[in-house]
This record gives sequence, structure tokens and C-alpha cells, in this order.
Amino acid sequence: MRMFARTGAGIGVNVVSRAEDHEGTRRDFLYYATAGAGVVATGAVVWPLIDQMNPSADVQALSSIRVDVADVEVGTQISVKFLGKPVFIRRRTPEEIAESREVALDALPDKVARNPNVNGDVPAVDENRTLDEAGEWLVMIGVCTHLGCVPLGDGAGEYHGWFCPCHGSHYDSSGRIRKGPAPENLHIPVAEFVDETTIKLG
Ligand code: FES
Repeated sequence: MRMFARTGAGIGVNVVSRAEDHEGTRRDFLYYATAGAGVVATGAVVWPLIDQMNPSADVQALSSIRVDVADVEVGTQISVKFLGKPVFIRRRTPEEIAESREVALDALPDKVARNPNVNGDVPAVDENRTLDEAGEWLVMIGVCTHLGCVPLGDGAGEYHGWFCPCHGSHYDSSGRIRKGPAPENLHIPVAEFVDETTIKLG
């Protein structure tokens, strides 16, 4: 399996993927993929969990991955492919956090957090969208909720978050739709920190 990651600005990063069988005996397969023309800005390490002996290994490989975010600097993001879609993992600056947390719920076209990691349809305040309480880590599925383009990141758009150029949807620094045809905030995948520097998706 080859994994490939790009930052929101289109910069390629190295990705390592590792296979692990279900009995806990690890047999590692390392694959390296590097973008052809990009500057290597950050590193991402991904471990797909693969049952080597099971015919449905491909399905299992996609069901859960672990991403090492130790090298993700504040103010940058990486993107990993998960369940066939890009997932943005952004480590936000204090300014981004403050800006996101100052936004009133009434200002949001979509008032639902779109976060399966909290119970119910909770309000789309920033605190209900970030992976950690401090709000430094924002993990989102990088697919525009209008017609499925991949938005541009790194402070793009009028709200300093992500911008989808396909039809002009602007998302803020919490990934919430603020302007344009997209009906919903960028969705958040099932995710959690399993240690200080590792995020498990799925
Ligand atoms: S697909 Fe993003 S605005 Fe239409």
C-alpha cells in the first residue's frame, strides 16, 4: 500500500505506512512516497492496521490508521488519505484558536458541530470541533460539503481557514462554512489522541 500526503498548500511530505497483524505480532512494511516537486516541510507517519491473513485485509487496512504528528509545527497542517478521502490535520496558532472561539453561533450558516466524537448534534462552537480542549488540533475530512472538491488550506479564503475554489465556499479556521454554497461545516472523522504525538483515525 502506498500512502501519500500533501499539505493544504500542496507541499508533499513523506509518509511511512506500517502493517500490523491482528494477533499483535508486528511485521512491518515500510513504504516511502515523496512528492515529485515539493519541498519537504513536515513528516507524517501512518500505520494502517492490516490483517495480513484475512481476505478482507484491504477493508481492515482502511478502517483505522495512526498518524504521528510529532513533527507538525504550530501553524501548519498535513493531509493523510483515510477511507479514500483526504483528512486535514492542522495544528493551529493561538490566533487561529482565538479567532475561532470568538465566533458567535448565530454567525454560522451550519450550527451543527459535525463531530462524531461528541454525543449528539452539538452546537458548532469551536470547542465542539477540536480534538483537544485547548483547541490546538483540528482534524477534518478535507472534502467540501457542496459537491466534494478538496478545499485549499493554510488560512485560505475570507475567513482564514479553507477555501473551495470550485464554487467559492469559504470555511473559517474551525472548518465551518461561512460563505458560499456549501451547506455544512467540514465534517470531522472519528479521531482521538492515543498518546501525546499519535492521532488514531477511525
Ligand atoms: S464543491 Fe466546494 S464550493 Fe462547490
